[in-house]
Amino acid sequence: NEDQFKNVISHAKEYGFVFQSSEIYDGLSAVYDYGQLGAELKNNIKTYWWKSMVQMHENIVGIDSAIFMHPKVWKASGHVDGFNDPMIDNKDSKKRYRADQLLEDKIERYKKDGKTNKAEELQAAMDDALQNEDLPQLKALIEQHEIACPVSGTRNWTEVRQFNLMFSTQFGAMAEGSDAVYLRPETAQGIFVNFLNVQKSGRMKIPFGIAQIGKAFRNEVIARQFIMRMREFEQMEMQFFVRPGEDGKWFEYWKAERLKWHKALGTSPEKYRFHDHVKLAHYANAATDIEFEFPFGFKEVEGIHSRTDFDLKQHEAFSGKKMQYFDNDLNEDGKPFGNYVPYVIETSIGLDRMFLLTMIQAYEEQDLSDGEKQDSRTVLHLHPCLAPIKAAILPLTKKDGLPEKAREIMDMLKFDHNLTYEEKDSIGKRYRRMDAIGTPFCITIDHQSLEDNTVTIRHRDSMEQERVAIVDLPKIIGDKVSW
Ligand code: GAP
Repeated sequence: NEDQFKNVISHAKEYGFVFQSSEIYDGLSAVYDYGQLGAELKNNIKTYWWKSMVQMHENIVGIDSAIFMHPKVWKASGHVDGFNDPMIDNKDSKKRYRADQLLEDKIERYKKDGKTNKAEELQAAMDDALQNEDLPQLKALIEQHEIACPVSGTRNWTEVRQFNLMFSTQFGAMAEGSDAVYLRPETAQGIFVNFLNVQKSGRMKIPFGIAQIGKAFRNEVIARQFIMRMREFEQMEMQFFVRPGEDGKWFEYWKAERLKWHKALGTSPEKYRFHDHVKLAHYANAATDIEFEFPFGFKEVEGIHSRTDFDLKQHEAFSGKKMQYFDNDLNEDGKPFGNYVPYVIETSIGLDRMFLLTMIQAYEEQDLSDGEKQDSRTVLHLHPCLAPIKAAILPLTKKDGLPEKAREIMDMLKFDHNLTYEEKDSIGKRYRRMDAIGTPFCITIDHQSLEDNTVTIRHRDSMEQERVAIVDLPKIIGDKVSW
């Protein structure tokens, strides 16, 4: 499994999906660039999310708020004081670790060694220490469980201290010592501060949602697992504003909706599970993660949080502006619900994690050997609506007017679909290359095409080929790749 993960990473690089940022300078840790195919796949994931959240829900609208926000936003949201990871350094290797990560690794080790009791005991003690922000206790646990630095092998640790994950910078004219501006660590706050702008200008009635896709930045202490944990990443978030008291119902609704969204891509259902939070963040009264079984275990892809009225109330307090909604629907007593600060259900998915999930799920090294000859291919079984390239246009040879005919077909389809044109190499090699990047259709133009205006269309997953009329291509392709 770990091997397969390594293969996916090198495949992603080899075919132009993901590159290490600033690679020629040996890279920048936990920062990645999306290449020519990665950018297409990422855009398609965004479109799938945006269409299903915004276009398919009459009461959800989308915005695009700025990355920079007033510094007070992050005081109000609790990020300045509370968005920390407990950090510890090894004095010999000078390496920095997350204390909770060291403990989690130890718990995994106990589990692998069959020491279930020890694993559970340590888990409970760690959860307690984290919940109470008891940093000396975290250090004590690291010592008690004899955790050594993976690099130096020694147990010469510093104290545990809090490390704030927000990146800060200075605005042009700001004097030294004045408030820092932060790169947002989540997109959600851009939605909260615009709650009334959108509600009033869009005449939105509760319940309604505001969605957004955008970059977020976190100075993660350790980078792990390729694009799972990045310092610059992208989120797709939606805040759904509801009547107080109806939050429980909507929390359940969005849990089910979001899981449906994941499954609609054809991913095997047993790869997904919910992980309900037992210990809740200060702002939440319920929270769950949608987890996917990555090659390195079940890990969070998306969070669904019932955030109460915490954020809007905090912004009322810090800005001095009312964040209330007037609800003129009638309650059970026949009176309007009146003014209140809405409750919020949030769905928050990491775009890069969804990208990784998609690549892992799609990737297959397929053995095609039969009795006589050895053969294999690497194929990405991407859902056609997510595939970076929808069809490859392949003239069988470079002469006899086949390229010209192929260009005609290209011109007919390119307004609706992202295509590629390829006339180099044998047709078999070209098919394999298209399999490797997940192209659902290969359209081959041969001499017969010049006579009867038909082509062969090859299907990626089944590798079956059929002869079809050129005029039918828009419908055949359109039916498969449409949303
Ligand atoms: N507004 C709520 C919020 O930000 P979160 O659980 O901290 O909640 C939501 O983040 C999602 O963002 C996660 O489920 C994950 O997919 C993604 N995410 C968080 N940190 C990330 C990182 N460092 N790199 C990549 N994705 C990340």
